[in-house]
Amino acid sequence: MSKPKALVTAAYSEEGLAFLREHYDVEYHNWMEQGRAFSEDELLDMVEDKELIIVEVCDLHKKVVDKAKNVKIVGCCRGLRGDDNTLDVPALTERKIPVLFAPGRNLNAVAEYTIMLTLAAMKKAKASTKWLNANNWKSWLDFYITFRTAELQGKRVGILGFGNIGKRVAKLFNAFEAEVVSYDPFITDEKVYEERNVKMVDLETLLKTSDVVTLHMNVSDESKGFIGKEELAMMKNGAFLINSARAVLVDHDALLDAVKSKKLGGVAMDVFYSEPATTENEPLLAFDNVFATPHMAGTTNDVIVNHSRMINDGIKALQNNEKPDFVLNPEVL
Ligand SMILES: NC(=O)c1ccc[n+]([C@@H]2O[C@H](COP(=O)([O-])OP(=O)(O)OC[C@H]3O[C@@H](n4cnc5c(N)ncnc54)[C@H](O)[C@@H]3O)[C@@H](O)[C@H]2O)c1
Repeated sequence: MSKPKALVTAAYSEEGLAFLREHYDVEYHNWMEQGRAFSEDELLDMVEDKELIIVEVCDLHKKVVDKAKNVKIVGCCRGLRGDDNTLDVPALTERKIPVLFAPGRNLNAVAEYTIMLTLAAMKKAKASTKWLNANNWKSWLDFYITFRTAELQGKRVGILGFGNIGKRVAKLFNAFEAEVVSYDPFITDEKVYEERNVKMVDLETLLKTSDVVTLHMNVSDESKGFIGKEELAMMKNGAFLINSARAVLVDHDALLDAVKSKKLGGVAMDVFYSEPATTENEPLLAFDNVFATPHMAGTTNDVIVNHSRMINDGIKALQNNEKPDFVLNPEVL
């Protein structure tokens, strides 16, 4: 008997594909290999006969959903937050098609990256590399005088937002023997912090006493521009601000002022106000004490393994008439 057809445009692990191939005749077009998401027209050509469709960065808007008239399960290999409207979930729900997703697929990747950003800022990675490459190292003691850096051990790290990534970040900072404090107005049970060796503090205490402030909130109307002029002024002189979450959490002009005035000891950021960021549209990139990377915290290959496993677990659950752990529209089950 011929197998039902599946389309996978997500990057998928070998093991994940092997499982899918046991149950489906799989057409695998990894978007990463062609270097861009498939267009609507390209998807329209591919979806019609598929019972399973798994995407990562490709949009599934109404036209494509309508064309996919045989589809029974959709998987999207992303965390799918509120700031994302790439899937027409209402149209899929109306047809009782479960939409599997992969929240937390990159939580460890982002947490590890946050440590890298913090260390890069504290150890002056950008300024020192630039200095070395410009042949400024004349006598071997130069570096002692030119670069004074800092250690994490014994420093206070303030985590804003104690969600999935914030909690993992806390564990990693604890391994450096930093003193970890956190503020999250939506997590009020002190035990959640204490059992992770984190002290629950109010916002003002966090800002005024932390040597490192690292952002891990989700974006909402309230959290946009959450760190503004006043909050930056409250921070310790020479403190470090780390942003691997979303740029809009910090007021851009206030941040630029805090960098220019050297109020902050350094900034490390993976996320931008306008992406792709360039030296034309982002003045922060010009500063030696701003270590910046192109939104790449979640680019580990391990993330591909994680999302493939999460989506496949969802498919297995549906095959067994069980409720998957991660389904966007459980009401269809
Ligand atoms: N750089 C990257 O590639 C990358 C990858 C994944 C996620 N992220 C970002 O990382 C951030 C954290 O992700 P997550 O999965 O941990 O999210 P999450 O939803 O698990 O946690 C977010 C936490 O922020 C808290 N929060 C909301 N408003 C707050 C406020 N005003 N002050 C303090 N805390 C507040 C919430 O209560 C929640 O506990 C998000 O902004 C996400 O978009 C970035």
